[in-house]
Amino acid sequence: MLDIQHSVAQSPAHGPAVTRRSDYRPPAWLVPQIALDFALAAAATRVKAALSVTRNGKHADPLRLDGAGQQLIAVRVDGVTIDDWRIEGEQLVVPLPGDAHVVETEVEIAPDRNTQLMGLYASGGNLCTQCEAEGFRRITFFPDRPDVLSEYRVRMTADAARYPVLLANGDPVASGTSDDGRHWTEWHDPFPKPSYLFALVAGDLAENRGSFTTRSGRTVRLGIWVRAADLLKTDHALASLKTAMAWDEQVYGREYDLDVFNIVAVDDFNFGAMENKGLNIFNSRYILADPDTATDYDYDAIAAVVAHEYFHNWSGNRVTCRDWFQLSLKEGFTVFRDQGFSADQGSAAVKRIEDVRSLRAAQFPEDAGPLAHPVRPDSYQEISNFYTATIYNKGAELIRMMATMLGPVAFRKACDLYFDRFDGTAATCEDYVACMEQSSGIDLSQFRLWYSQAGTPRVSASLAVEAGRATLHLAQRVPPTPGQTDKVPMPLPLRVKLFGAGSGAPLIDERLVILDTAEATMAFDGLAERPVLSINRGFSAPVIVESDRSAADLAFLSAHDDDPFARYEAMQQLMLDTLVAGASNGTADHGRVIDAVRHTLDDADLDPAFLAEVVLLPSENFIGDQLTVVDPEAIHAAREGLRREIGHALAAQWRQLHHVTQQAAYAYTPEAKGKRRLRSVALGYLAANGARAIGTLAFRQFEAADNMTDRQGALTILAGGDFAEREAALDIFYNRHSDNPLVLDKWFQTQALSSRTDTPQMVADLARHPDFSLANPNRVRSLIGAFSANQRAFHAAGGWGYVFLADQLIALDTLNPQTAAKLLPPLARWRRFDGTRAQAMRGALERIVRVPGVSKDLFEQASKSLA
Ligand code: TRP
Ligand code: ZN
Repeated sequence: MLDIQHSVAQSPAHGPAVTRRSDYRPPAWLVPQIALDFALAAAATRVKAALSVTRNGKHADPLRLDGAGQQLIAVRVDGVTIDDWRIEGEQLVVPLPGDAHVVETEVEIAPDRNTQLMGLYASGGNLCTQCEAEGFRRITFFPDRPDVLSEYRVRMTADAARYPVLLANGDPVASGTSDDGRHWTEWHDPFPKPSYLFALVAGDLAENRGSFTTRSGRTVRLGIWVRAADLLKTDHALASLKTAMAWDEQVYGREYDLDVFNIVAVDDFNFGAMENKGLNIFNSRYILADPDTATDYDYDAIAAVVAHEYFHNWSGNRVTCRDWFQLSLKEGFTVFRDQGFSADQGSAAVKRIEDVRSLRAAQFPEDAGPLAHPVRPDSYQEISNFYTATIYNKGAELIRMMATMLGPVAFRKACDLYFDRFDGTAATCEDYVACMEQSSGIDLSQFRLWYSQAGTPRVSASLAVEAGRATLHLAQRVPPTPGQTDKVPMPLPLRVKLFGAGSGAPLIDERLVILDTAEATMAFDGLAERPVLSINRGFSAPVIVESDRSAADLAFLSAHDDDPFARYEAMQQLMLDTLVAGASNGTADHGRVIDAVRHTLDDADLDPAFLAEVVLLPSENFIGDQLTVVDPEAIHAAREGLRREIGHALAAQWRQLHHVTQQAAYAYTPEAKGKRRLRSVALGYLAANGARAIGTLAFRQFEAADNMTDRQGALTILAGGDFAEREAALDIFYNRHSDNPLVLDKWFQTQALSSRTDTPQMVADLARHPDFSLANPNRVRSLIGAFSANQRAFHAAGGWGYVFLADQLIALDTLNPQTAAKLLPPLARWRRFDGTRAQAMRGALERIVRVPGVSKDLFEQASKSLA
């Protein structure tokens, strides 16, 4: 028996191995079939694997199987135990004489000691797996790369009382019991798949069962599996799944392909959810909801993530990725698909605003900092670090730009070609673009730069007007990013329109301008009045637009543009200019913003959900991203100052809105959600105005709420201020929900996001709270992730936040390196801060890279951040 549990890979201090896209070679051996036999138990699970392997091409290479963290017990070839195998690093190397063999291995693994939550692990007494990207190698020896596709047969045996439910991919084919209190089930997945899509679950689970009939008339059995006490919280997820299945048939012509589709919710999960074939595994926060414990935001996120994972059945599973550099092939496309789904469920305008807001909050800073990478990266040390906003969200914007350039009919046809041509294979981003190009006839050769060049393009736009003619001058610049100093112009699809400054009416039809040179000029003739420029409407290109539009023109567009996103954008730009001036100069003229907000509130035609988004100020982080040197206190003061004045000047309107948006009984409809959103926004402005009586009003909303949206909305305001009711509200909330981990996460998060000056002290206390634990990623994100996103608190003078974050990451790294590494990026912003802060942030990063035995996950993020 060989213990390779501690076979140490190269120490990061000497530089971990770099994987390069240019080094891609097809697999030397294929594995058309695999049979797995699990004897499951939390402390020790035996895994027997039988791989039918075939030599791929003419070569004399041995078979190389990836494996990590397992005890290898036996290796057999064609039924005979062999001993001429060897271990090289994290690979089992088996010399094979012929072109086809059956290679069997037997290993033992320890799920209950698996804290990194990759491979087979225990969560809440159940056993589950997570294999993407490279977790399968922690379960058995296998060529753990996405271009090796196999047909899986899985047999699982477990204690029948402890693990009454046994699930795996595909369809169940047989089951039985043995006399020792154990039982077994066999599953077969007829669709060849890469190892990262393997999954099994064993546990004591209850099922919310449903069914869906596909448009070709096949009935699919649907199951949402949770602990029995949570069963009543699964109806929304099940309904969302059915809606998503119907949507993919209608919009993309994609049908489900197995007889069974199961979803299991677990509390301990590194990510949102995972699209394993026929057996999705979810972070319970994206499944469990009832009005008392989940906000509207949670409900929407559940629908979006259920849809996202379901859509992967085609974009990811039927067509998978050739290698991990192609990750955006499945993730960018699938995010684009789930965004389209969500847009169709309610307000498309509000959905676009939310998506652009999260792109700007997460992806733009990534693209502007030391961790910037192309949508199709060229190299990585640890692939887990590349599940980023760039791969997901910028990747989705690339698909959106192609869809915009092709138009809906040609785009759908091109997607059909892609699915048809690559079904059952492992494809590349290039394959996808080639389908878009060949199907539509549109030349995308220059567009491919979007996959290889990192950095957010900046577009400057100016409109010169003289006597009935307007000349639009556009220029683009792609900033340098690590490893890419010189950039070439990319094609930027910009939706452009002109409005008459006097009448407010459109002067031209909207045009799609493709800016594909460094500079371009175009003229618009026959204009009857002075035009105002509306550009990048709908955020048609993921770029930063710098225009010479005056504050008056922005205010005008916020009132008159006929594209709702452009109205939002004009208001945001007006607010941002005011806030940047305030943060830089200490004062700014607030009148224009107040008038624009007043005008918007008076517009009776606007839907409350849209209204609530438009009147919100840009975040402190986003204001910081506009400044050469971030001054967190000045930004906070400028933003609070403007908030206070908007609250004060329009106090009567906010009070009225808070009153009229009160609803008799809870309903989850787009209208009801919009009203709840506007209600909390109105309360926020009333609180900003500073009247202490608002504490009473907020506390009343908190106490009277029959839903979590209103309750948490009020709690956020109380927790962020100086109200007499603050502590009582936090205590009531804690006591009321202390048995629900997802709601306790909100309790931690709300306090970590507070803008009070004592937030660092509170965070320090919360990190010692008995309910805090580094073992649960949701809890870690809700305290540590939220705190480090709280610009004012995290960067408070003295640098305590940096020391705290480094301490927590170093401790977490020994348990769960993947989650630790994901929380590092706030420190990577160091170049944007003053010398004292920058020095302290660097110090925290330097401490991390020097930790003996630091994971390659955390090392890669910290060392790249220092570079
Ligand atoms: N493929 C998953 C998705 O839908 C992402 C994912 C789930 C993941 N679990 C993971 C990525 C663990 C890395 C590690 O987007
Ligand atoms: Zn995904």
